[in-house]
Amino acid sequence: MDPSEVAKMSFEYFQHNGVTFVSMIHSIEHLEWVKDFKMDPDIPLLVSYPKSGTTWLQQIISLILSNANDTGEKFKNLYAKAPWIEYPLFKTVSRDYQLLTTHLNYHMVPNIVKSKMIKIIYVARNPKDVIVSSYHFHKYSRFLKTPKDFQDFVEQFVEGNVFYGSWFDHIRDWYSHKDELNFLFVTYEEMQKDLRSVIEKVASFLNKKLDAGTLESILDQCTFNSMKENPQTNYQDVSGMFYSDKGSFYRKGIVGDWKNHFLVSQNEWFDSIYQERMADFPVKFD
Ligand code: A3P
Repeated sequence: MDPSEVAKMSFEYFQHNGVTFVSMIHSIEHLEWVKDFKMDPDIPLLVSYPKSGTTWLQQIISLILSNANDTGEKFKNLYAKAPWIEYPLFKTVSRDYQLLTTHLNYHMVPNIVKSKMIKIIYVARNPKDVIVSSYHFHKYSRFLKTPKDFQDFVEQFVEGNVFYGSWFDHIRDWYSHKDELNFLFVTYEEMQKDLRSVIEKVASFLNKKLDAGTLESILDQCTFNSMKENPQTNYQDVSGMFYSDKGSFYRKGIVGDWKNHFLVSQNEWFDSIYQERMADFPVKFD
């Protein structure tokens, strides 16, 4: 899309079912349509709060499902192979996908997802790194409000005034329903620590057997650098959506960058909020 076209589009935020959405990429009509969408039970669903490693897992799962050799699909972009169900274009454009993706909260997904019929892979990331990644993404994206400064962004994030709303609600809601679902939970941090094991775990969840060569090929095609260079994964064909002089989608791809952004006082404040809202949450982030 041409940047001048994007500039003309409205990027107002709106609330729907208590979650913040962006008028340029979401509509209430489509969000309501999604609830009754009849998903094919053979297609898995990747769920995440934005900036948690979604694209990385889209690539991993797509490669697992195609045995790392998606010849027919070779020139198809990753976002077409694994479309987001909540974007209105999904209804009119998406065809022949092998995986579906969503950032929606549990209460907004298709009803069929709330059963054991659909395989769900949920990826989560340390919220402080999500904040940092999201802060840069808000500066880089033409369709999101540019943050005033980091302090203001952390406050907006805690209030859920950023796109897709509250991180706390997202992870708590999904996790609290996991036993009713066909659900695999993975973290960005474990992918960084031992990607091979995560790929094996995801493949086994999807009932796919990977031979040694396929596994090596997947590992090769999922590195930060190869995804950054690959035109199918680096969003270069929609570069008009972004201010290319203000960053990159593949920014750093590391664990712990929050330490370079949070002041001691901001860190203490966020820790106290985290304690208040997540003390009983069973997953501990590195
Ligand atoms: P950073 O902004 O910290 O670099 P999402 O896909 O959910 O929007 O998440 C984007 C984050 O995942 C970005 O984090 C991006 O760099 C990181 N990421 C994407 N692919 C990656 C990969 N192959 N290895 C490590 N990190 C990756």
